Amino acid sequence: MVSSIALLVCAGLAAAQTFPADLVGTWSSKSNSTLTGSGFYDPVNEKFTEPAHTGISYSFTADGHYEEAYYRAIANPQNPKCPQGIMQWQHGSFTKEANGSLVMAPIAVDGRQLYSDPCAYKSAIFTRYNASEMFKRYEVLTDGYRQITRLNLYKFDGSPLIPLYLAMSPPQMLPTTTLNPLTTSTPGGAKATSKVRRSELPLNHNVFEKRTPQMQRADNVWWFGVFLTTSGGVLYFLY
Ligand SMILES: *[C@@H]1O[C@H](CO)[C@@H](O)[C@H](O)[C@H]1NC(C)=O
Ligand SMILES: *[C@@H]1O[C@H](CO)[C@@H](O)[C@H](O)[C@H]1NC(C)=O
Ligand SMILES: *[C@@H]1O[C@H](CO)[C@@H](O)[C@H](O)[C@H]1NC(C)=O
Repeated sequence: MVSSIALLVCAGLAAAQTFPADLVGTWSSKSNSTLTGSGFYDPVNEKFTEPAHTGISYSFTADGHYEEAYYRAIANPQNPKCPQGIMQWQHGSFTKEANGSLVMAPIAVDGRQLYSDPCAYKSAIFTRYNASEMFKRYEVLTDGYRQITRLNLYKFDGSPLIPLYLAMSPPQMLPTTTLNPLTTSTPGGAKATSKVRRSELPLNHNVFEKRTPQMQRADNVWWFGVFLTTSGGVLYFLY
């Protein structure tokens, strides 16, 4: 009897996973203007806000939740007037595996992407976005020169993501629960509020990075058919 209680206690402890405390916070790439939270993606109005500069941001909580924000522009050397811009947002849960890897599991129905290719499409294209990620390893260190806490994430193939710096702690995040399943399509209820100022997408040389092995095979973007267009604004692809 005593030993079975002890076993139950042990099982309980083993199930209570711990998450790395050194990851907790909101991290952002050098420009520090792309940050997770409602300032990037507004789930109530289905709207992205374009940060002042391209960049990426990750937030981690002490209880295993994460959120990520990516804003990138892709220069088009053949036609500099045709830069493509992309904003991606996801959140979900993560685990640190015994081998040191971080396995990120997004809430598939919540991820969103806004893609702008002004020379190919009149409107920016708003879709769902779902891409699980695995970071082979990570390290948190103090950047010697800037004396700022720095996070190096290494992708599944061992190549480094651009360095991230601690921007805020505790993290700035949207609620970590499922936000917006969008399972009912009510065209009248759609919010066509977002206007992407495509001409202002900055040109830089941040090319798309292959984030997961899966993404080498397929872009995990969900297409649900044209749902609504707004004049010169955003094309929404929903159910
Ligand atoms: C989300 O993407 C993962 C792989 O990245 C896939 O296993 C999963 O089935 C996807 N979920 C949905 C609902 O498409
Ligand atoms: C570490 O373990 C996880 C879970 O078993 C696995 O998905 C991941 O591929 C492993 N990482 C490496 C670098 O092999
Ligand atoms: C980054 O931006 C956040 C929010 O505006 C600010 O609190 C933080 O001090 C900034 N970090 C750096 C290193 O500039």
